[in-house]
Amino acid sequence: MRTECLYSCYLFDLRSKIWYKFGTMADIKEKIVVTSALPYANGPIHIGHLVEYIQTDIYVRFLRLCGKDVIYCCADDTHGAPIEINASKQGISPEELIAHYYREHCEDFAKFFISFDSYYSTNSPENKDFSDLIFSRLRDKGDIYKKTIELTYCPQCNRFLPDRYVKGTCPRCGATDQYGDNCEVCNAAYATTDLINGYCVICHALPTRKESEHYFFRLSHYTDRLRTWLTENSLLQEEIKNYILHWVDSGLKDWDITRDAPYFGFPILDDPTKFYYVWLDAPIGYMASTKHYCQKHGGRFESYWEDGTGKIIHFIGKDIIYFHFLFWPAMLMGSGFNLPSNIFVHGFLTVNKEKMSKSRGTFITAREFWQKANPSYLRFYFASNLSRSITDIDFDLTDFKDRINSELLGNIANLVNRTLNFSKNKLEGTVTNPDKTEYQQLLDQKNPKIMSDFENCEFRSAIRGILEFGDYANKYFQQREPWRVIKENKEEAGKIVSTCIHWIRDLCILLKPVIPTICQQLETQLNFPDLTLQDLGEIISGHQIGVPKPLIQRIESLDLIGKGIN
Ligand code: 2FM
Ligand code: ZN
Repeated sequence: MRTECLYSCYLFDLRSKIWYKFGTMADIKEKIVVTSALPYANGPIHIGHLVEYIQTDIYVRFLRLCGKDVIYCCADDTHGAPIEINASKQGISPEELIAHYYREHCEDFAKFFISFDSYYSTNSPENKDFSDLIFSRLRDKGDIYKKTIELTYCPQCNRFLPDRYVKGTCPRCGATDQYGDNCEVCNAAYATTDLINGYCVICHALPTRKESEHYFFRLSHYTDRLRTWLTENSLLQEEIKNYILHWVDSGLKDWDITRDAPYFGFPILDDPTKFYYVWLDAPIGYMASTKHYCQKHGGRFESYWEDGTGKIIHFIGKDIIYFHFLFWPAMLMGSGFNLPSNIFVHGFLTVNKEKMSKSRGTFITAREFWQKANPSYLRFYFASNLSRSITDIDFDLTDFKDRINSELLGNIANLVNRTLNFSKNKLEGTVTNPDKTEYQQLLDQKNPKIMSDFENCEFRSAIRGILEFGDYANKYFQQREPWRVIKENKEEAGKIVSTCIHWIRDLCILLKPVIPTICQQLETQLNFPDLTLQDLGEIISGHQIGVPKPLIQRIESLDLIGKGIN
């Protein structure tokens, strides 16, 4: 059986066991950069954010396992009014605020084994240079123009107010304390000036309106090119594509890309009174982070972002599709950079089926999680829930506990524990030939689908396949009763146990993208320090295993849901 895998750039031949002919394929040099959305340097990482970083990390680790030339780049998103306002409230500079969150974010990501090749900052010289370059290229071809507009202004704070900094009573349903752009109770959309008793969130004064000249990007010029790009890209999720095409067909509005002082951001090229809007320089941060990686490791930035052979793959949440599917590709088209090959969109995380909420005590930060529970378990849990669909995924504490205890512990760790202990105690830890037909059959049956599921980000299905694999192996061990067979025929018992050890080794390889550190411990126990995809399906007769130890701890109780605050 031949299974074509990973954009047809390698072949896996299960029968002849010819694996991945890297080095002979034409696209061996293909450079892939994968990104996750940049978190704001204005608050802690929470488990909702982690859905995306874990999803991206599993994908990147899978590509690395396949021998792909991939880098994972990300950064803190450091600019914008909220960061400037927050810093000033705390009596510190924005630079101090973002430095604090940079340290905290890096520590949290490391705890969840997010394997960035570059984690940078949008407040960097590279980002300033790319922002100026893109701005000047767009301006030079006439895609940027100036226009005077009227905006909400606080006369007491002496600043223009973003919509979120104005609150008041909804003009439609009368709900109090609603934001300046839309009502969370009745969903009405309105201008800040329509609010009844509107007030400035910072000082509570009554906002006014004031004119200001801003720079606009002619997004409308890109309508046809965006439509073609969207229609021709077969990798994009259909439901997202249809959504965006609907926006394109309804007419694209030009985009205000500047902001007035006070603002924390880059002053724009040739007009230092204005700043680039945070959403302009944020995605450019993907490029800056790649550039930073290349400077440190001697790579070529162009091979990711400019040469025809590079591949850019973004992972984002469904709340920011407008920026990534319209503004961002249009900016790249206009400035001559490569377009993303794929933008992978996921749904939100709910906790107990509801939006995370501080008042309900369901706002769980990454830090709270890693201080109380094993981060690998969250990786496994999210993987078990993630698919190509953009429907929300739910974190349910009882379900979480049950899945770890029954699947990771009861299935995978149980198989490892009983097999390796039996081998060590009764068979001197020596692996012999497996029952080859039995062994190969299960691998043939499960592996190709698991691989293609990883490749397609169908992680839920990949985990299901892995668990079925483990389940079969457990049943095989149980039914063949090596503890009974050994009394009469040690060789036969050795074969049964060795069949299971071969399967465990394969399961370890397949689980590496999901739970890398647990698999590393398993590799030590198996005495195979760094398994790769080429090791899958290999016969390891004569091998000596290491020392078995419990892999997974049962979760008895977990107090992740707080009491809530008012
Ligand atoms: O929505 C957010 O959290 C943004 N900070 C994401 C930016 S992604 C990219 F464009 F930089
Ligand atoms: Zn004010």
